[in-house]
Amino acid sequence: MTEAGAIPPVLLVGCGRMGSALWRGWQAQGLSPSVVVDPTPADLAPPHVKVGDAGQVPAGFRPAIIVLAVKPQMAERVLPAILPFTNDAVVLSIMAGRTIDGLAALLGNTAVVRAMPNTPAAIGRGVTVACAGPGVQLAQRELCDRLLAAAGTTAWVDDEALLDAVTAVSGSGPAYVFLLAELLEAAAIEQGLPAPLARTLARLTVSGSGALLDASPDEDAGSLRRAVTSPGGTTESALGVLMADVAWPASIRAAIEAATQRSQALAR
Ligand SMILES: NC(=O)c1ccc[n+]([C@@H]2O[C@H](COP(=O)([O-])OP(=O)(O)OC[C@H]3O[C@@H](n4cnc5c(N)ncnc54)[C@H](OP(=O)(O)O)[C@@H]3O)[C@@H](O)[C@H]2O)c1
Repeated sequence: MTEAGAIPPVLLVGCGRMGSALWRGWQAQGLSPSVVVDPTPADLAPPHVKVGDAGQVPAGFRPAIIVLAVKPQMAERVLPAILPFTNDAVVLSIMAGRTIDGLAALLGNTAVVRAMPNTPAAIGRGVTVACAGPGVQLAQRELCDRLLAAAGTTAWVDDEALLDAVTAVSGSGPAYVFLLAELLEAAAIEQGLPAPLARTLARLTVSGSGALLDASPDEDAGSLRRAVTSPGGTTESALGVLMADVAWPASIRAAIEAATQRSQALAR
């Protein structure tokens, strides 16, 4: 029997970067005996059973939720093997580009929720946007939200098509921020700073600014930017370059558009 407050039994399929980050969050909340399917799972603490293949899940296991965290190209291989466990379970997929309709076609009448997390989930600071497919009950949606919230903040959309833009902004977004740190570091070295100092300045400027943004819920990013910008000063000189129409405004818009279109093209 599920103990009060514990997360009900989970069948987690795929325990790599994302799956293990989620799992650790669930364990911190109290997780009923659950099963992990992964040929090389991360080192996880009990209570759970680890198997290398979905065909090896104990036949009597009755998960309340099946979380799909394998690479999208594994779906055709994995889904037939989990069908025997879908009876009363909701399927929560975080696979990029695998649509609710596409999954439902492989899973029959199973209730499907699709979600797009991002890598800060690894430290409980992710943001995930989810969309519920037809037939998902309120309690199932709440369970999905609880599991996703273990890795950070959650939001829901009714229109699945919006997940393409979500993928472009927050799913891929950490890469853009890490690129900023890389470019700042390289530019600092070009200006003569020693490489270790350049690295420290770039990393702490990006992470510290993110933390300041996070600690300032009543201020928008623009006002925090303006607070660093004195008329005629150094920041204004740099922003004159970055904020020129052909610079960041155009390239960020084009980048998000390219990623959104790629997400649309990959959807199946
Ligand atoms: N990383 C991101 O930024 C991000 C963001 C949003 C969504 N996602 C989605 O999250 C999903 C997982 O991404 P990830 O970054 O966590 O990938 P990952 O680290 O490669 O994790 C996938 C795991 O699945 C395992 N696996 C392979 N074949 C399997 C099978 N037949 N049955 C069960 N497990 C199997 C892999 O094992 P092996 O390594 O041994 O093959 C690996 O441990 C993907 O669908 C991705 O689209 C990722």
